[in-house]
Amino acid sequence: MPSADIADAANTAHTAGAARSATGPGPGAPRAAARREDIPGWFFRLDQQAFGHLLAAQSAAGTTGDILELGSYLGRSAVLLGDHLRPGEHLTVCDLFDSEAGDADNAAEMTMSYRASLTRSGFEANYLAFHPELPTIVQAPTSVLADGRVPDGSCRFVHIDASHLYEHVAGDIAVARRALSGSGLVVLDDYRSEHTPGVSAAVWQAVFTGGLRPVLLTPMKFYGTWGDPEPVRRALLARDWRAEGFTVDEDTIAGESVLRLNNAVRPAARRSGARRVLLDLLPPVATRSVRRALGALRTRRGPGA
Ligand SMILES: C[S@@+](CC[C@H](N)C(=O)[O-])C[C@H]1O[C@@H](n2cnc3c(N)ncnc32)[C@H](O)[C@@H]1O
Repeated sequence: MPSADIADAANTAHTAGAARSATGPGPGAPRAAARREDIPGWFFRLDQQAFGHLLAAQSAAGTTGDILELGSYLGRSAVLLGDHLRPGEHLTVCDLFDSEAGDADNAAEMTMSYRASLTRSGFEANYLAFHPELPTIVQAPTSVLADGRVPDGSCRFVHIDASHLYEHVAGDIAVARRALSGSGLVVLDDYRSEHTPGVSAAVWQAVFTGGLRPVLLTPMKFYGTWGDPEPVRRALLARDWRAEGFTVDEDTIAGESVLRLNNAVRPAARRSGARRVLLDLLPPVATRSVRRALGALRTRRGPGA
């Protein structure tokens, strides 16, 4: 989710893309990202791996169905979702893109986080750089999806990453519940960030009063199902995440087991106490500058400094 303290996102958030053609983009057309990691957005390696693993596990288990994304921005997560479509399956994305929001709070969110960089043509260009056809695009507030245009039980995977306001997210969860098949998975972004309490409220309300069962928690995303969480859990535990530099933990929430995945922290053995405190306290952009300055100092002082 957009936040001043997410440096990876800040680095990429203003480089939208455009259609590739044999002759290159025409004047004024947005330029497409050359690599998936160049697509601006807030979808990072750990969740990319979890999405890929769970979508592939569904396909391997013979679970079929469409994929739905609420909130796509410039296509970083949608491109990965599109990778996993099997014959007969369909991806639908819903985003305001360059349209007006339906209420003042949502409009404020849009202005603060996305307006300067987001266009539908940028999304389309990025998506078409990696897939031959666009998904179905609903350019509107996600609340329009409550009209039943997504058939009940038609989806196997829904990614909710649009507005972070409680009322919107609660509505998005209701859409996902109807759209998902029995074994389908819903993933919600920003369920635990300090600046998105509305998402937290809607997620845990769905858990405690709406039958949503958590299966996996990452620092950024909540993964759950209204079906049986056990096959999902088995599919996750079948992979040696630790060997790939992740941590795996298990917690119990009101009697339900839930897995947690995170990035393993590299040992900081050679850092001095003061250097570690400094690097831990500074925001990432500043941290990079400090690292550079410390590196230069070490080089000047010579080995062992
Ligand atoms: C955090 S971004 C999505 C990031 C994207 N999933 C990624 O991983 O890069 C949130 C997106 O939600 C869209 N959005 C915000 N409020 C919305 C609403 N009420 N209906 C539809 N889209 C909305 C914004 O336009 C923005 O593109």
